[in-house]
Amino acid sequence: MASKNSVAIINEIQRKALADLASVSSIYELQQWKVFYLGRNGKLTSILRNLRTLAPEDRRNSGIAGNQAKLLLEEEFNSRVMEVEKSSISSKTSEDSIDVTMPGRPFPSGGLHVITQTLREVCGIFTSMGFSVAEGPEIEWDHYNFEALNIPKDHPARDMWNTLWVDFTDEEGNHPMLLRTHTSPMQARIMENNTPPVRVVIPGKCYRFEATDATHEWHFYQIEGLAIDKGITFADLKGTLYEFARRFFGEERRVRFRCDYFPFVEPGVDMSIDCFRCDGQGCKVCRNTGWIEILGAGMVHPKVLAGFGCDPKEYTGFAFGMGPERITMLRHGIEDIRHFYTNDLRFLEQF
Ligand code: PHE
Repeated sequence: MASKNSVAIINEIQRKALADLASVSSIYELQQWKVFYLGRNGKLTSILRNLRTLAPEDRRNSGIAGNQAKLLLEEEFNSRVMEVEKSSISSKTSEDSIDVTMPGRPFPSGGLHVITQTLREVCGIFTSMGFSVAEGPEIEWDHYNFEALNIPKDHPARDMWNTLWVDFTDEEGNHPMLLRTHTSPMQARIMENNTPPVRVVIPGKCYRFEATDATHEWHFYQIEGLAIDKGITFADLKGTLYEFARRFFGEERRVRFRCDYFPFVEPGVDMSIDCFRCDGQGCKVCRNTGWIEILGAGMVHPKVLAGFGCDPKEYTGFAFGMGPERITMLRHGIEDIRHFYTNDLRFLEQF
């Protein structure tokens, strides 16, 4: 009876100990549990210690049951220690500690518009060649936009520019103000306040009364260039623009000059680069010609020079005008100029 009782007590202690162990959740509680059941005066230890008071046959059964229970509880204790330790480490990393090796959360920051990037890069190339940078008004007088550039009223050359006139009438009933159609009026403004030698580039917005399509916007940028000094020749124009093309489009680029007409230059040219997509073989980008036109240029017309207050016998100069949208489209393979100004972040964020 006594032994049966002892075995039953041992089983009961074991059951209780295992149940307690399962609900223990800290190392401190584990230590307390160990003292309570397996310690020197613990529940199980006391029973084992008193075995000798039992009858011999009961002693045996209780001894076996007690030692088995002790082994089992020690084993369970050890594995519970591991579990509790593990979970306390993982809860630390998720809640209590800072992992200083983790990369920071990206902070959404703005960027420069791709056309701004082009303007800066182009101006940077020219400043490295000794040019300075200037800017001017987007609402301009007829005088600067046309007259000073050898395009008098009723001259057919005005048809080259589709103009947005400003609703302002002078005493004679004329509309003398407009949204500038090109950056060339700045040539005259610069020459009003400077004497040669002059080397300047002028980035800025221009406007034309255009129906928009993939290659035309009613507003766009230009970068104007002007160099005036004694002894400037067409070779200087070619050398400067060739250097620009190589720096912007790549060392291996070749350039081509062809006659073109602008009333304020003589001779006037357009400059093309050999197609960087097909290396001049002919493809969609260059419309199978192998060449891509990137700017208009020429030697400043003697009449225009005289208007600037420079004696054309003493001074010469060259001027050029390029479209930053066009060269950006070429460089990145952008097929529609309207992408630049519709503010779709999916487009803009690519640059
Ligand atoms: N202003 C001209 C245009 O808008 C470009 C140009 C500038 C041509 C300077 C020659 C010299 O088409």
